[in-house]
Amino acid sequence: MQKQIAVIRGDGIGPEIVNQALRVLDAVAQKYGHTFQYTDVDMGGCAIDKWGEPLPKAQLDKCLASDSVLLGAVGGPKWEGLPGDKRPEKGLLRLRAGMGLYANNRPARLWPQLAEASPLKPSIVARGIDFLVVRELIGGVYFGGHTTQEVNGELVATDIMPYAEHEIERIGRIGFETALKRRKKLCCVDKANVLDTSRLWRRVMHRLQSEYPGVEYSEMFVDNAAMQLCKDPSQFDVIVTENMFGDILSDEASMITGSIGMIPSSSLGEGSRGLYEPIHGSAPDIAGQDKANPIGTILSAGMMLRYSFDAPAEADAIERAVNAVLDAGLRTGDMMSEGCTLVGCAAMGDAILAQL
Ligand code: IPM
Ligand code: MG
Repeated sequence: MQKQIAVIRGDGIGPEIVNQALRVLDAVAQKYGHTFQYTDVDMGGCAIDKWGEPLPKAQLDKCLASDSVLLGAVGGPKWEGLPGDKRPEKGLLRLRAGMGLYANNRPARLWPQLAEASPLKPSIVARGIDFLVVRELIGGVYFGGHTTQEVNGELVATDIMPYAEHEIERIGRIGFETALKRRKKLCCVDKANVLDTSRLWRRVMHRLQSEYPGVEYSEMFVDNAAMQLCKDPSQFDVIVTENMFGDILSDEASMITGSIGMIPSSSLGEGSRGLYEPIHGSAPDIAGQDKANPIGTILSAGMMLRYSFDAPAEADAIERAVNAVLDAGLRTGDMMSEGCTLVGCAAMGDAILAQL
């Protein structure tokens, strides 16, 4: 096959980790006879520096013209003082909305080799961690109105969290469909004891539930879910939740599996074109030092092959290569434990390439 991939290196460790993922994609292309062409896209802080805004329209258009998008990470202290709609993160939100990517898939699974890096007790980890957060990505409080106004001599800020039935239904359906392909358990996480949006989520989910009798459906308040994820993550298969809850819970999910540096993600909408990125941030504290873990990005490239390009054998090959380097005891700093060999970002890429 021949595919056009938009590549957003972004800020901080973004360029280092994306470069390793591109080496892996090139190796896969060579081995399986594919051609991947890359188009560079500026987004985030680097786009602010170059173009004055985090995602100029011409850059978004390049993504819309591609077969899929690979992203490193955006943001950093340099741009922190900027107003909300000029920040690097705004570029990412614009990209997600501009591409219509409402379904964000964040798999949290424990690689057995990393069990010691999990902060949870061995007795909890031993029960297994393998679940997936299906996060709604272009609605809710991230995209409702944001205002800060002076009222009676003081500032009052408001963020609105809107959800329409159709927005809930399309992501709810992804939750059920995903559960069908896994252990057939779906948990809707919300705050229905307080929020109207959550109560509407439950109404829509109940309607869908009757279409999926094969799925064991449950509901949980988000505060309890945060606690249950530490107490017994093995109880979860698929979690479906709104945008902000999904943001928070997926960071927690990544930590209990040993390292935030390992978790890839896919974001999809109606077609096959998606956005693939590790769930971690731009880690400015280690940027440019060859210390970052490229595996989250490499696995994201694997997800692109699997979900956008329908190439499961190629995706499996990447996952097997990652598994092999972990078996060999190679670790970047974020997941280092006793008896293992500490390597940098490029050496980790080398090792994965060697396995391919
Ligand atoms: C994520 C990130 C983003 C989000 C930020 C960078 C806007 O935390 O992808 O989880 O909140 O969605
Ligand atoms: Mg986040």
